[in-house]
Amino acid sequence: MFEHLKPMPADPILGLNMAFQQDSNPEKINLSIGVYQDDTGQTPIFKAVKQAEQQLIDAQKTKSYAPQAGDPAFLSGTLELLLGKELMQSRGAQIAAVATPGGCGALRMGAELLVSAKRDARVWVSSPTWANHFPLLESAGLMLVSYDYYNTETNRIDFDDMLKSLDQAVEGDVVLLHGCCHNPTGADLTQAQWDDVIDLLEAKRLTPFIDVAYQGFGSGLDEDAYGVRQAVSRLPEVLIADSCSKNFGLYRERTGAIIVVTESEAQTTAAKTHILTAARRNYSMAPYHGEGIVGLLLADAGLAADWKAELNSVRNHMNGLRNKLANELNSAQSIINFDFVSDSNGMFCFLGIPKDMVLALRQKYGIYLLDSTRINIAGLSDDNLPVIVDRVTGLLKGT
Ligand SMILES: Cc1ncc(COP(=O)(O)O)c(C=O)c1O
Repeated sequence: MFEHLKPMPADPILGLNMAFQQDSNPEKINLSIGVYQDDTGQTPIFKAVKQAEQQLIDAQKTKSYAPQAGDPAFLSGTLELLLGKELMQSRGAQIAAVATPGGCGALRMGAELLVSAKRDARVWVSSPTWANHFPLLESAGLMLVSYDYYNTETNRIDFDDMLKSLDQAVEGDVVLLHGCCHNPTGADLTQAQWDDVIDLLEAKRLTPFIDVAYQGFGSGLDEDAYGVRQAVSRLPEVLIADSCSKNFGLYRERTGAIIVVTESEAQTTAAKTHILTAARRNYSMAPYHGEGIVGLLLADAGLAADWKAELNSVRNHMNGLRNKLANELNSAQSIINFDFVSDSNGMFCFLGIPKDMVLALRQKYGIYLLDSTRINIAGLSDDNLPVIVDRVTGLLKGT
């Protein structure tokens, strides 16, 4: 029965990571995969997360099924982190959250809900967007259309073009937005731009689907939630895909949530049953372990404060590297002004160099970035940064 199957092409990001692992160059540098690393190249477990995990294990008396929608402390804790207490109160039962296997699970459950609600809904995605948005949403049955977002000539968001393309959306369409730390460009909307986008969504009766995979990696937990909070406070309907992979460092535990906000308690209750039905058909319920850890951590003021302090230092570490890279590239050459690198947010930015140089970096020097020129800022270190600056500068100057 399987004899006619042809192997599928590797996922572009995971495939490149595999090529890096197989590269025998002893000086190779991996800037491709989206995982945080500290100065020593490790992806550490947050201390507060480790403590919460230990407490969870010590207190656990059963491995019986947990509630299908997710651990209540996890759901209320993550909702409060994302929306804040006031909004939770003002929208009350119009908000529902269901735990999912990571942010990918949340995106997929959101897509399945959209298909149940409006099979012909078009989803507008930024150009460019995270590569996995396409398979996750399209294979659920949705049609994706791109809106202009990033200008590779100026290395900045082209906001006028973004509004112009979204003006072509029609009532009932959905707009996928990155809550913060846009992946792959690192170029985020300002607060004023968020306000304008929400004006447009309101005027044209479009529904935002906001992907929040990096809350706390940009400017701070509250600052990074600005767009989501404005959307929930001003719009009748909002979908949010939340991930705990990066900000709690829980990548492999597959922890996330799909959040749906509608105009009425009845609509939200119905929407939640559609999400639960889709989950049951696919994997029944999300894994409990990560949810248990996050729920326990957020309910404990001491652990929550420790985690926030650790998250701040992760963000500061990345900001230090991003500024250093921009400054050193600017000092070493004047062909490209790399200020846009220091202005970017989160774990990623584009390097904005020609594609042949991306390939040369990979093939000649074992420096791996995505074809789009996306780099993982956290893959930089005090040791490898001078080498990267030297190689990029050499290629730009043609030496
Ligand atoms: C933009 C974006 N959305 C969602 C995710 C989902 O992450 P996960 O499923 O690992 O929680 C990621 C992870 O890289 C991402 O970059």
